[in-house]
Amino acid sequence: MGPSDSQRMALRLTAMRYGAREILLYELEPLDGNALPPVSAGAHLDLHLPGDLIRQYSLITSLCDAERYVVGVKRDAEGRGGSRWLHDQARVGQTLEVSLPRNHFPLSVAETPVCLIAGGIGITPIYSMFKALQQTGRPVQLHYWSRSPEHALFRRELETAPGVTLHFARASGPQSDLLALLGNLTAETEIYACGPGSMLDQLDSSGLGERLHVERFVSAGPVLAEGAFNVVLARSGHEYVIPPGETILNVLLEAGEDVLYSCEQGVCGACEVKVLEGQPVHGDTVYSAEEHTRRSSMMICCSSSASARLLLDI
Ligand code: FES
Repeated sequence: MGPSDSQRMALRLTAMRYGAREILLYELEPLDGNALPPVSAGAHLDLHLPGDLIRQYSLITSLCDAERYVVGVKRDAEGRGGSRWLHDQARVGQTLEVSLPRNHFPLSVAETPVCLIAGGIGITPIYSMFKALQQTGRPVQLHYWSRSPEHALFRRELETAPGVTLHFARASGPQSDLLALLGNLTAETEIYACGPGSMLDQLDSSGLGERLHVERFVSAGPVLAEGAFNVVLARSGHEYVIPPGETILNVLLEAGEDVLYSCEQGVCGACEVKVLEGQPVHGDTVYSAEEHTRRSSMMICCSSSASARLLLDI
């Protein structure tokens, strides 16, 4: 079940409004008046845009309800075209195909303190988490790096909110203030972060272990095997050879197998499958290798195998 399946719904773009410099907020409502599925902080959806573009955007869940979803989109002049289309060509009244929401970046239900870290447009899931945590009373601090006050989404609200620190001028690159911040956190504090790759790389290499949860918007690129390996589908017993340089997803689709997928870039999580036997090599940015081990899963659009055979729960 790929991009043209029943996992999609048609929503009308009912409003576009200014969020911050280069960021617009888009409201989407159902055509038929039916209630939208509920969403939790950290959830995202796929927008299917003209030119077969499928792009993932975090829902601003505190602004979402049964009648509308809201996403924030930064115009990326160097990007692959999704945000440019949304900023330059989308019009109120248009209908967009949208996936059902997914959440691979959920808040835990613990009561331990939380430190939220956002860089640039990474504020969209982080703001949703902040609003959700404010309601639970769980201790939370939010640090938001933005290029300037003009570029900061929800700045007016956040600059006076308790527990929030806004940092300007450095949304990427080495950040000594980020390291200083980590040094001041208590050992039980959970960290949730979304932002530029350089910021997340820095956090990944800070030895935070399972306390760190990150969401990346950008694909790391597929991991393709240099040699062939076999994939066995446990439910049907079908067996396939994955040639060097090919993805499992492509081989299964060409064979007519019914598998879920969406972005084909390792960022959306739609193609996640359970690994029953074998040793996958992960190419996605949805989960860390540790999280995959815990979940016994892999993304078949971008990951390969270190073992000669993978047994998948398909
Ligand atoms: S299809 Fe999106 S992660 Fe594989």
